[in-house]
Amino acid sequence: MSGSPLPDPLESGDHEAKGTGNVLRSEGTLQSDTLEQTSADASDTVTVLVRRSASGLDQRFTVKRFEQMKVLDLLVAIQRTADSSIAFRYSCRVAMCGTCALRVDGHAVLACQTSVPAGTDPVHLAPLAGFPVLRDLVVDMRPFFERWAHIVPYVVPFANATEPARILPNSPEREVIDPALDCITCGVCYSSCSVSGNQWDFLGPAALNRAMVLTADSRDSIGADRLRRIGSADGVDRCHYISACTSYCPKGLDPFSAILRLRKWRITGEYPAGAAPSTDSRTDSNAETKSQLGQV
Ligand code: SF4
Ligand code: FES
Repeated sequence: MSGSPLPDPLESGDHEAKGTGNVLRSEGTLQSDTLEQTSADASDTVTVLVRRSASGLDQRFTVKRFEQMKVLDLLVAIQRTADSSIAFRYSCRVAMCGTCALRVDGHAVLACQTSVPAGTDPVHLAPLAGFPVLRDLVVDMRPFFERWAHIVPYVVPFANATEPARILPNSPEREVIDPALDCITCGVCYSSCSVSGNQWDFLGPAALNRAMVLTADSRDSIGADRLRRIGSADGVDRCHYISACTSYCPKGLDPFSAILRLRKWRITGEYPAGAAPSTDSRTDSNAETKSQLGQV
């Protein structure tokens, strides 16, 4: 993982462009989808085509490159000096918050993590696929988080749980859970998936990855209910085995393997040692959650 080094293209003398800040030229007329080369195709500049929601067309900007430039740097430069109305989202700039996800040349990525590729011109920026567009590059993440909430994305402990839980670092349970923990809910996998990214009903890779983590967690009391949920028509069986989720996850997670694991557990009933889902003989401490589960 690497974040933007934060050189400010608008304040650094090294990157000062002719005219206003880092943006050399912004063409007032919106361009069509045609990716035509222009005279701006010089080694020290990059042409950026940004999908605008109001028109449905791409707007063309020419931005001065600097070393280690990230896609987010392009957008900040454009917004500050050429067109303040352009909408995009970011916060941490170090690939931790998951808010800056968009598509670069058709691939879902984190803008703050993705370098502007040398020799690539133009660069085409568009909102994530599979989500309603609110404005320009900002999407409504509700479809993602509604599915995330559906699998109950937190541990529901047993009433008789003793604290602290003792789960050894080298236990089979930890070996299953640890590599799948660092999801930042960015939506890149959801957008890259040919099922959820096409707005078909599917719980999606991130929610299923989280469901796998919690099902494997021996402290959780609602594994059986969670398995029932991911076994619905919109659950694990909707996966088409393309594994784009794993190919594009910016945190290096493997949601595809999580889905395969959930499928196997459902079919065989075999779970990591000590992590079998709850049975009726075990009581949990969250009657309210149980009640809510029963209503869905
Ligand atoms: S699994 Fe990866 S791509 Fe999907 S939401 Fe989590 S961090 Fe993003
Ligand atoms: S700005 Fe936080 S992940 Fe990119």
